[in-house]
Amino acid sequence: MANQWYVPWNEALIRQYDVTAPRYTSYPTAVQFEALQAAEVRDHLDQQRGKTGPLSLYLHIPFCQHLCFYCACNKIATKDRDRPDAYLDMLEREMALHARNFGHRPITQLHFGGGTPTFLSTRQMTRLLDLVAVYFDWDPVNQAGEFSIELDPRETSDNMLRLLRRRGFNRLSFGVQDFDHQTQLAINRIQSFELVQEKVKKARELGFGSINFDLICGLPHQTPASFARTWEQTLSLSPERISLYNYAHLPERFKPQRRIDPTSVPQADDKLRILRDSIALLQQAGYLYVGMDHFAKPGDELAKALQDGSLQRNFQGYSTQAETDMLALGVSSISQIDGVYLQNHHAIERYEALLSDSQLAIKRGVFLTPDDKIRQWIIGQLACQGRLSLAEVSARFNIDAALYFSHAWQQLGELAKDDLLTIDADLVRVRPLGRLLLRAILVTFDAYFHARIASRYSKVL
Ligand SMILES: C[S@@+](CC[C@H](N)C(=O)[O-])C[C@H]1O[C@@H](n2cnc3c(N)ncnc32)[C@H](O)[C@@H]1O
Ligand code: SF4
Repeated sequence: MANQWYVPWNEALIRQYDVTAPRYTSYPTAVQFEALQAAEVRDHLDQQRGKTGPLSLYLHIPFCQHLCFYCACNKIATKDRDRPDAYLDMLEREMALHARNFGHRPITQLHFGGGTPTFLSTRQMTRLLDLVAVYFDWDPVNQAGEFSIELDPRETSDNMLRLLRRRGFNRLSFGVQDFDHQTQLAINRIQSFELVQEKVKKARELGFGSINFDLICGLPHQTPASFARTWEQTLSLSPERISLYNYAHLPERFKPQRRIDPTSVPQADDKLRILRDSIALLQQAGYLYVGMDHFAKPGDELAKALQDGSLQRNFQGYSTQAETDMLALGVSSISQIDGVYLQNHHAIERYEALLSDSQLAIKRGVFLTPDDKIRQWIIGQLACQGRLSLAEVSARFNIDAALYFSHAWQQLGELAKDDLLTIDADLVRVRPLGRLLLRAILVTFDAYFHARIASRYSKVL
């Protein structure tokens, strides 16, 4: 398939550029967040009151019935099905506090993430959906948008799917991870192919137009042969999008991973083969590599956005929505509002205690400096549009971009030699191999990145 989007495989370069770097769902990344003055945060949020334009809303539901041993998400394992009620009380308070500044802006993107949002019962979910509609301008019947939710197939009843569809959800993301039984045993996540198949069938009958699967490369006992079987089963269900994440074994950081035997995870050579085969297989099956873990079928909006240059990037990865402010609610969630990142407390006790006192639960964040804003824009351009024009940077930010980024430009020259990108006068274009090794390109513009923090991020291999 010789087309301009086809990602070639070059093992030597992939090994060479396997950098330990962030995935840039934000710039600056969360490592740079620090404690903020409450008054300064309040002022900033109050200044938003007069603003108009669409808004993205993210809600974090942290509960999970079972703990997957690989998991690096912010979640709380519990069997108590009433536990979300108190959490919803706090979410309501948080919505009420934000509604005065944001309640008038149309919600064009709504995402429920977790944890497992469908840990909620249909009663609890109905309440949550009502709260969003009460406190925000969310009208999915009359307003177009991307309304999506993360689903654990084991925790998704048909009634829940029906409810979500009726209330305007149009995108689903299923956690699949791997269909191999031995792998599933080792990660404490047993879910049969038949279960996923049944849920996908139901979702399609109900009219969900876009289904994403999350899979993970590098899980225990995974081999090129076992993962090839997982792909065969996955492709038979024909999801519109696929996110292929990389498992990095970091048990010091993520406690549940201590229950994974490090000798059972595929080592670098095998992992590289698994990745190579996966990318080849998906491209043969017609999927486009969008960038940074994401694949999409050509007809899918994400693939179209890649091709027509309208792709965006935010905390949920890639998106088709025009650049909007993102208000994020719930424990540990991160908002991006008009040049400021704000993150809520990670600990649910602290989150709930502050909101019971009718205070926002923001713990830390960052007010972007003028330099941050320039680099944020550049990283977005390269990650989404795959191009960067220095003239555009100069005009947009009123700087001499060639001078400002002379050092980064030299580094890009090196990457150009390896065909990760091309440089034509002042224009950089990311080549397909560069899309696969995007982090190595983006890190060039990260003013904070250096060896000291490198160990906090995962490598591909
Ligand atoms: C919040 S979960 C998705 C919803 C639901 N909790 C589930 O697991 O089905 C988000 C995704 O993150 C990915 N993930 C979690 N921990 C990971 C890790 N350590 N390495 C790579 N991917 C991971 C999984 O693919 C998972 O589906
Ligand atoms: S992967 Fe999903 S279900 Fe498993 S522990 Fe993490 S958030 Fe919960």
